[in-house]
Amino acid sequence: AAAPPSAGGELTFVPIPPNTLDAVIVPHGYDSAVVIRWGDPVLPGAPPLDVHRQTADRQAAQFGYNNDFVGVLPVGRDGRRALLVVNHEYTNEELMFPGFTTLEAMTTGQIQTAMAAHGLSVVEIERVGRTGEWRPVRGNRLPYNRRITALRTPFDFTGPAAGSSLLRTAADPKGRTAIGTLNNCAGGVTPWGTVLSGEENFNQYFVGGDQAPEALKPKLARYGISITARYPSGSRRWERAQERFDLAKHPNEAHRFGWIVEVDPHDPRSRPRKHTAMGRFKHEGANVIVAKSGHVVAYMGDDERFDYLYKFVSAKRFIPGNRRHNLMLLESGTLYVAKLTGDSPPAEIDGTGKLPSDGAFDGTGRWIKLASGQRSHVPGMSVVEVLTYARLAGDAVGATKMDRPEDVQPSLVTGKIYAALTNNTNRAVGTYPGVDEANPRAANKHGQIFELVEDGGDHTGDSFTWSLPIVCGDPADPSTYFAGYDKGAVSPISCPDNVAFDSAGNLWISTDGNALGSNDGLFATAIEGPERGHLKQFLTVPIGAETCGPFITGDDRSVFVAVQHPGEISGASLEKPASTWPDGDFAKPAVVVTWRLDGGPVGS
Ligand code: FEO
Ligand code: CA
Ligand code: CA
Ligand code: CA
Repeated sequence: AAAPPSAGGELTFVPIPPNTLDAVIVPHGYDSAVVIRWGDPVLPGAPPLDVHRQTADRQAAQFGYNNDFVGVLPVGRDGRRALLVVNHEYTNEELMFPGFTTLEAMTTGQIQTAMAAHGLSVVEIERVGRTGEWRPVRGNRLPYNRRITALRTPFDFTGPAAGSSLLRTAADPKGRTAIGTLNNCAGGVTPWGTVLSGEENFNQYFVGGDQAPEALKPKLARYGISITARYPSGSRRWERAQERFDLAKHPNEAHRFGWIVEVDPHDPRSRPRKHTAMGRFKHEGANVIVAKSGHVVAYMGDDERFDYLYKFVSAKRFIPGNRRHNLMLLESGTLYVAKLTGDSPPAEIDGTGKLPSDGAFDGTGRWIKLASGQRSHVPGMSVVEVLTYARLAGDAVGATKMDRPEDVQPSLVTGKIYAALTNNTNRAVGTYPGVDEANPRAANKHGQIFELVEDGGDHTGDSFTWSLPIVCGDPADPSTYFAGYDKGAVSPISCPDNVAFDSAGNLWISTDGNALGSNDGLFATAIEGPERGHLKQFLTVPIGAETCGPFITGDDRSVFVAVQHPGEISGASLEKPASTWPDGDFAKPAVVVTWRLDGGPVGS
């Protein structure tokens, strides 16, 4: 007889339909609740949110804006307490400040408040009764609770570029300590209990690129910083609060963002670090797996049209239980970028999404070494240049230009790696690069899921195979693909952004920017066996929001998502909100937990 399915392994929930409701919708038999929202107290004694009395000091003690990455790290042994670690990627000033008109018209105090609303929060949470619901621990003694901000939190640089001339500024002549972190998007929890967080679209915080030194301009431009306008459109004008954001005066300040940040939430007094050995780009996030050899390997995406997939292999080995040692693992190692080759004739990749004659978008790939330790592997670039201008290093070695690599995460069940390639509406349009087997659709609106299998299962190796298990969109659209599963049985999905796994190894995918017209959400599918590709929608988020996180607890009883930028609709304001979620007054980004009413494992 066939073995019975393992508990929690099968995704038996009835999928929810696409919708445009201003609510979090979950399947029958599930419930959801807000864990913490923008403005809720984080530090003991913090005031509640009052949009008419916002200051940087108040915001720096409250939960920040636009929650993105969510990590839940157990504390204690009874499974009742955990540390919720959350990124605050950016701010929607028009939805935060009463009477908002333009970014130029904001007061210095409002700018400082927005800077304090960026960064990360660490919040101790507790389980509610015996359910999968969680809530913040309240009280006067909350030793772990912490806010990290763009405004004033110091970060130490580690690795080969720390202290280099490219990182030195007037405020930090040694080039070893940055103030703040910017645009922290996705991230990951490490096997040694820290959190990694990706600094993504840091370019939008800088002005004055037009007056930067000539030699620097091509480098700024490669990272999306305008070199023609003093005030690029949409610029946040933070230089009015802190002069360092003016590249005309402080051109190296831009080099101090775009890194992977490591935060140790278990040690509230620890200084967070920016790891230069992992390279500088528009980091979506980083997720770590321990290789058979004991080296730790971080997989990473650079979220820009036509940018690259990377991995980092530590020089030292993971030592279970030796936290002090493991905290240094990401400070030195080897940075690689991915170069892919399709196995079908290029003529069969016609831009429509039609499968090639071998029935799969798939092929092989190489990890190209960019830098290891203090050594550059890119002719004409020093190791400091390779790391600080990793995009230029990738260009130099001919890395494969991808459709916006967002979250990249290894499955700890199979060791296979999954990347969300969110979309690329410029693919094969005009003079932009054409299609290839990994990025097979022209003007790609809906994105695809990329699966990478290291040769021999060796995460430290330099060769792999890859395929596209899911090519997203409406299943009625012939350009979509769901691993060959019956398209009549799958949910429509568009613009995958974050990926996660439950303990059975099912793949969970959240979306940002659903180009099919309904709200964003969270989906799940088996990724091995006969149910591979049977994608089902588990949750939708309110109007204007994207779905971030997601995070499934180790006991499979709780699914956390971050509802980011609810009500972010053109023309909306605090006074005229497009969403009033979650409290019925105006929109507030919030972290939500979902659980099964009968207390069983989620998904099943
Ligand atoms: Fe901040 Fe790439 O999403
Ligand atoms: Ca093929
Ligand atoms: Ca993202
Ligand atoms: Ca995104």
